[in-house]
Amino acid sequence: MASMTINSVNFGTAKAVKFEYVGLRVHQNITSVRHHSVKFAPRSLTVNAAEAHGYGPVKKMGKSDEECEAAVVAGIVPEAPPVPPIPAAPAGTPLATLPLSKRPRRNRRSPALRAAFQETSISPANLVYPLFIHEGEEDTPIGAMPGCYRLGWRHGLVEEVGKARDVGVNSIVLFPKVPDALKTSTGDEAYNDNGLVPRTIRLLKDKYPDLVIYTDVALDPYSSDGHDGIVREDGVIMNDETVHQLCKQAVSQARAGADVVSPSDMMDGRVGAIRAALDAEGFQHVSIMSYTAKYASSFYGPFREALDSNPRFGDKKTYQMNPANYREALIETREDEAEGADILLVKPGLPYLDIIRLLRDNSSLPVAAYQVSGEYSMIKAGGVLKMIDEERVMMESLMCLRRAGADIILTYFALQAARCMCGEKR
Ligand code: PBG
Repeated sequence: MASMTINSVNFGTAKAVKFEYVGLRVHQNITSVRHHSVKFAPRSLTVNAAEAHGYGPVKKMGKSDEECEAAVVAGIVPEAPPVPPIPAAPAGTPLATLPLSKRPRRNRRSPALRAAFQETSISPANLVYPLFIHEGEEDTPIGAMPGCYRLGWRHGLVEEVGKARDVGVNSIVLFPKVPDALKTSTGDEAYNDNGLVPRTIRLLKDKYPDLVIYTDVALDPYSSDGHDGIVREDGVIMNDETVHQLCKQAVSQARAGADVVSPSDMMDGRVGAIRAALDAEGFQHVSIMSYTAKYASSFYGPFREALDSNPRFGDKKTYQMNPANYREALIETREDEAEGADILLVKPGLPYLDIIRLLRDNSSLPVAAYQVSGEYSMIKAGGVLKMIDEERVMMESLMCLRRAGADIILTYFALQAARCMCGEKR
């Protein structure tokens, strides 16, 4: 029905305002006259084309196309609804028209136009869901990450993966909480074929054969020192010896059925070595997502609590990158590309959008961004304290990571965000 309602239109006596520009300042000269375009002032105005013309609902007259055309040619033009009056501005609004040739707001003036010109999109297929697993039967809440749990590998995990798949998130990455008694200085549990991660991969692949499983390749969950590599007596993290262990770890994960192994350790040369080790064992089809630009960030705090993997001494600054550095990310990018990485990852996410864009513009490989634990917890905390709208901030942060150039995003919000995209309310 051709009916339009304008609510709360203020057609009251307007103070017409004359002005003249002096530089950028508006000199207002308010005079109390009736605004020229204001004729009447209903609070709620309904324009109903059919009623306004007194012929009720528009009926078809049974005319042919030719008859319709002939009528118009003869000057009998069918009436359309009248042009609605211009809604009134508040009293006191200055009269102003700028001679602009460009008005970017034109392309933003309706939801349909905004949707048409949206440059970036996001879908559940872009998300990878990081999941913490442990040997237990129960799901244990992680204090520093509201809404996240150490999931029992046999029960809670399988359920959570099912929920994610229901809303289109079919990629996960596993992080194990390893019992202290299994941690050693060389992290050998990392390549135990019956360890928590390989066991879990086999279980998941059995239940969900098409699930894409990413794994973390690094020694920290298995290291009694809490470092990503083997620590020498003097505190030095040993590079090549660590890479040797990482190769065994990656092969063990591939053997269990991992689709993408993801070295997050930042040792030099590990991508090439892992590629060679995988190929030598017949795992040519297994991809490598390299943590190309992983910064020595304080945003990892909640994650380390989740896995109880804080370094026992020192920090990770001799292998993870300095947050002050930008160009150095290009060195890592070139190395990883040359060594055969399939996906390049930037971590953390939101504070490092420039690095995501840098990789995007300097490589043709897919780019991943990791919205890390600290980023997640800040948004959650802000939401719980009602300081921000959690859901909107969550969606905006993910969209911004996409806009910066990330193809995929590892995020603890994966399930919540995908539900939101599917129109489900929590
Ligand atoms: C360790 C690893 C870390 C994260 C992923 N893999 C922590 C670290 O480097 O200390 C952090 C993820 C997060 O904070 O969400 N290999």
